[in-house]
Amino acid sequence: MSKTYNIAVIPGDGTGPEVITEGTKVLQAVSEKAGFKIDLNFFDFGAERYIRTGEILPDNAIEELRKHDAIYLGAIGDPDIKPGILEKGILLRLRFELDQYINLRPIKLYPGVECPLKDKSPEHIDFVVVRENTEGLYAGAGGVLKKGTPDEVAVQNSINTRKGVERCIRYAFEYCRKRKKMNKLTLCGKTNVLTFAFDLWERTFNEVAKEYPDIKTDYAHVDAITMWFVKNPEWFDVIVTDNMFGDIITDLGAMIQGGMGIAAGGNLNPNGVSMFEPIGGSAPKYKGKNMINPLAAICAVGIMLEHLGEEKSGKVIEQAVMQVTAKHIKSLGAGQMGHTTTEVGDLVVKYVQESK
Ligand code: IPM
Ligand code: MN
Repeated sequence: MSKTYNIAVIPGDGTGPEVITEGTKVLQAVSEKAGFKIDLNFFDFGAERYIRTGEILPDNAIEELRKHDAIYLGAIGDPDIKPGILEKGILLRLRFELDQYINLRPIKLYPGVECPLKDKSPEHIDFVVVRENTEGLYAGAGGVLKKGTPDEVAVQNSINTRKGVERCIRYAFEYCRKRKKMNKLTLCGKTNVLTFAFDLWERTFNEVAKEYPDIKTDYAHVDAITMWFVKNPEWFDVIVTDNMFGDIITDLGAMIQGGMGIAAGGNLNPNGVSMFEPIGGSAPKYKGKNMINPLAAICAVGIMLEHLGEEKSGKVIEQAVMQVTAKHIKSLGAGQMGHTTTEVGDLVVKYVQESK
């Protein structure tokens, strides 16, 4: 009997549903090719449901999602709703409650994709950021005093636990070993200023490193790493960092790999349910226009399959995407692809079907 994967799908807001349609189309095609089955279960979480019911996530949402092998998410966020409500109430809540403690974000320049960096090509840009995904400034610790007065005080604490830091760093070492590229792991921090938090990170990094003599270790301050991303991206193989720095440097990473049209990532709980998403937002401006680039959402399917143990199918998707960027797409920008959203999805499906 062939294996069946139960996937929870949250298309979400804006262009989320459109890109998810293309992603699931590709998922279906690759599963037929590889001989496994996919069972999709759709959830309507997002702006529309919130406006209609006043509820951000129903009480049983987490329990329902937990029953799946993985979650496939489109985009969350709507211009009619105050920023933060849906992001915190859906995206961050799922990351935290499902304990998806790794945010894995590959930064890879595909052939044919225009790179904003002078003289950089696919051989220079191919690294992965392992972002801690449950702690740091995102933990929500802090408070406010005397709000609205001239004496107002706002405190936002960065939470770094030995357990949280260690499991993230350990994952990064394992991932780097498995990746077999440069066998180099860079810790990105700010040890010269954040002398409590990054002291814990650095000590943990150095201790865990002893168990991985085959992996070269390296350190870069977060400000410096933004310079190196632009000047020498070829230096990097795997980078591990905290939640906030990881958020910031992966947007820069997305830009050097061609933009939000292609950047995808996985929120991973290696012992639980993980969630895969294009990292760009809901792009409300392009909603319903068949103009948005679905490749990021399609790449998220590739990362999901790799994580589920279907490595070969993950590679098939990546190869198909590379054929499309190399041979068909004019630009990765919405409305500038020279193709509609649907056509781009169809092209990827065609290359998946033709793959050996
Ligand atoms: C991301 C996003 C989220 C984050 C927002 C939408 C809460 O920017 O996935 O990088 O900050 O993590
Ligand atoms: Mn971000």
